[in-house]
Parts: sequence; structure tokens; C-alpha cells
Amino acid sequence: MTPQGTATLALGDKNYSLPVFEGSEGEKAIDISTLRKQSGAVTLDYGYQNTGSCASTITYLDGEKGILRYRGYPVEELAAKSRFVEVAYLLINGKMPDAQEREEWSLLLNRHSMFHEDMRHFFYRFPDRAHPMAILSAMVVSLSAFYPELSQHRGDEGEEAINIAATRLLSKLRTIAAFSYKKSIGEPFVYPRHDLSYCANFLNMMFYSPVHPYEIDPVVVQALSVLLILHADHEQNCSTAAVRLVGSARVNLYAAVAAGICALWGPLHGGANQMAIEMLEEMMARGITPRQRIEQIKNSKGKDLLYGFGHRVYKHYDPRATVIKETCYRVLKALNIQDPLMDIALEMEDLALRDEFFISRNLYPNIDFYSGIILRAMGIPKNMFTVMFALGRLPGWIAHWKEAHEDPRFKLQRPRQVYVGPTLRHLEPGQCTTEPSHMPLARSR
Ligand code: SDX
Repeated sequence: MTPQGTATLALGDKNYSLPVFEGSEGEKAIDISTLRKQSGAVTLDYGYQNTGSCASTITYLDGEKGILRYRGYPVEELAAKSRFVEVAYLLINGKMPDAQEREEWSLLLNRHSMFHEDMRHFFYRFPDRAHPMAILSAMVVSLSAFYPELSQHRGDEGEEAINIAATRLLSKLRTIAAFSYKKSIGEPFVYPRHDLSYCANFLNMMFYSPVHPYEIDPVVVQALSVLLILHADHEQNCSTAAVRLVGSARVNLYAAVAAGICALWGPLHGGANQMAIEMLEEMMARGITPRQRIEQIKNSKGKDLLYGFGHRVYKHYDPRATVIKETCYRVLKALNIQDPLMDIALEMEDLALRDEFFISRNLYPNIDFYSGIILRAMGIPKNMFTVMFALGRLPGWIAHWKEAHEDPRFKLQRPRQVYVGPTLRHLEPGQCTTEPSHMPLARSR
């Protein structure tokens, strides 16, 4: 990036000149890398609402216009015309695969779909009530013990090693997710099959059982591919920022992704899809009307949230929510399901979009509001909803980890702070014991 001008910061009686960069879509960025050296001052930006951590070529989103593109392709177009494994390749490699690359990518994904047999025993050590996100993060970081390449990612391992680690993780995460579900319901694990596509394989590993046949429905396979595509990346969201931050210490890919999984688990982030469905279920069980629930949220002074609504960047409808809502209708119709939660969700949305409290705060449905309806229709339990988000987001996490390590401006991420604690002070006599801490305290007689 070459500076496109400068910004002048007046601080006290001095002016400081800072370079200004312009992104491909005309966004302006003031580079403050030299601010502290020039002025001794740092910036303060809780939640990094105005702070860019890097330049990236992976995803572009415009929150005001509701635009989301992966490597320049609109997400709506990718969801309608491509398959998840192609979008994963696009995010990680920067281009759509040609026929040969698609073939090789599928072979790699199949070859790496199983993990070391010793890891299977890890599942038996988790309590049955273990949340699948806890299992997922533990199993992913354990992969680094079984596959130690990239252990200290120096950045010189080359494309081949990174692509193997990436496909290994993409394929194994799907298997780990399915195994964590089978473990939670006490059914035997179902191993991946090389004759099935990525999404069909996952559904088969989740729902096939020797005692009850599972027929893979192409409508469900396609809906799963669309869902995973819509979750595949979202620039510097909380979990991707976590992958980049942890990755900046040059840990291996598995450890950085395990950090992303933990960040995604939060109810303000990827955990919102489970929270949204639990809110709808509770309303139905307790006979709380949408209007009553909306009033409860409005009167809670921010303590009670409408999960699946609101977004740090989108100040209008999340374009992914539009596609997910359409997919809801298609899947429920194809599977002949009448889900009362869908009706409640639709009424909640209708009321919120007409309510000054939500309008004034730019609160619209985000990716998590309707996604749970589709997952329910597929038979996926709600404690697996955020696991499904992680499955979708994995290519994005890998792409950002890779891009960060290839960035010539790569640096260990270590934010500054503003200290507001006590100024210099000293211990008063008698304030604490005088014996050195390694000596046993004299017993009082
Ligand atoms: C994801 O960043 C990404 O790209 C994330 C993601 C991705 O793909 O990676 O898009 C995925 O995480 C989507 C978001 C999922 N989370 C939820 O649905 C949880 C509910 N949403 C809120 O927690 C909230 O909207 C956030 C966290 C998503 C965004 O919050 P911000 O930008 O920090 O804004 P804020 O909390 O300062 O809210 C501004 C006001 C506050 O009210 P006031 O103090 O002005 O009176 O809006 C209120 C908030 O209380 N508010 C809500 C609300 N979200 C914000 N009030 C009720 N319900 C909500 N959902």
C-alpha cells in the first residue's frame, strides 16, 4: 500500500503528520504506527470500533450498504452458484479452483478426513454433558501434538506444508464435530466416506446409525453448503481477530484456530445462534408473546438482548440474514416442516423493525437470527449450532492466519493502554511481614 495523502493531528501546541492509505473500495485509513514515536501519545479505542489491525485482501464488507464479498465475489452469488469446498479454496488461495485443482482439493480433504486413532479415546474422557465447543477447541489444539509440522510457524514452510495443514484441519474439524455429536448421544462414531461430498459426509457422520438408516437429502446437503458459505469469513470479527492475535506470536495453525473457536463460543458472537433459538423456545414454552418479549428487552436497560439482532458493522440488514431467511422457507417447505419458532421469529422481526428502540440503534437481524431454524430442520441439536458456525468459519480463520504470516508488515500483536491506576507509592512499616517470603512464618507461642 502506498500513502494517498496525510492527516494532521494537532496535539497541544504541535501538529503531527500521519500517512493516509486508501483501500480498494475507497475506505480511508490513517496510519498511526509512528504516532507514539512522534508525539508520545497513543490512541484509545474500546472494542477497536475505529481501529484497523491490518490490510487484507480476503473479505470486503460495507455495513452501511449491506455488502459482503469474498475475494471480490458477492456472497449471495457464491451461495447461489458454488459449493462450500470451492469457497474454502477461494478464501485460502485467493482464486476459485479450476477442474484439476478442485479434484486435488477434494482428494486432499478426503485423505485427511480421519485423525489419529489415539485421539478417538479423548472423546471418552469428556463428560456426556460437555458442550461440543469445549470438545472442539480441545481436540483442535491437540492436533498439534499429533501433527507437529508448522509447530513454530516461521513463515518459510512454503505453500505445500501450509496447504496440507489447512486441508488437514478443514477435513478433521468436520469429523471432530460429528464425533462430538455422536459422543453426546452415546451412539457409535461413524467414519467419513470417500464417496461422499464434504457436506454429505458430515451429515452422514452425524445421522447415520446401524439401527436407523439415514437417507442423505440433497435439499439438506445444499442448504448446509449455503449455510457454511455464508459463515465462511467476515473480515476482522472477534474470532478471526483472535486467530490473528494468537497467530502473531508464531504459534501453529491449530493453536491459533483453537483460540478462534473459544472466542466464537461467546453469546455476543457465534454463540448467539444457540441463544436466539433458546429465546424462541422459552417464549413458546412460557407463552410469552413477541410483543411482551420486545418490551422486556427494551425495559432491561441493555441487560437483556434480542440475540440474533444487532451488529458492530452492519447498520442495516445483514445480507447473510436475507439469504438464510430465504433458505429457511425453502428447507421447511422441502422437508414439509411447520416450525412454530419460525412464526415467532418472523413476528419478533416484524415488531422490532417497526420499533423506535431498535430503529434508533440500527438493530437488524444478523446471521444468527434465522440460522438456528435451518439447523433445527436438519435435526442438528442447538448445542451444536456454534460448532456449525465454526465449521463454516474455518476457511476464513485459515486464510487470515496465512495472510498475516505472509504480510511483509507482520508483527507480534501487542496493544498499548492508558494507565489510570495508583501513581508511585511505597510499603508502610508493618504493612506486611518483614520475614523474607521463603522463610516459614514464626509460629506465635
Ligand atoms: C456475529 O463482527 C462480526 O462480523 C461478527 C459476525 C461474524 O460473522 O463473525 O457477524 C457474527 O457475532 C453476529 C453478532 C451475534 N451477536 C448477537 O446477536 C448478540 C446480540 N447483539 C449484541 O450483543 C450487539 O448487537 C453486538 C455485540 C453484536 C454489537 O454490539 P456493539 O456494536 O458493541 O453495540 P453496542 O453493544 O454498543 O449496542 C449499541 C446499543 C446499546 O444500547 P444503548 O446503550 O445505546 O442504550 O444497542 C443496544 C445496546 O444495549 N443493543 C441491543 C442489541 N444489540 C445492541 N439491544 C437489544 N438487543 C440487541 N441485540
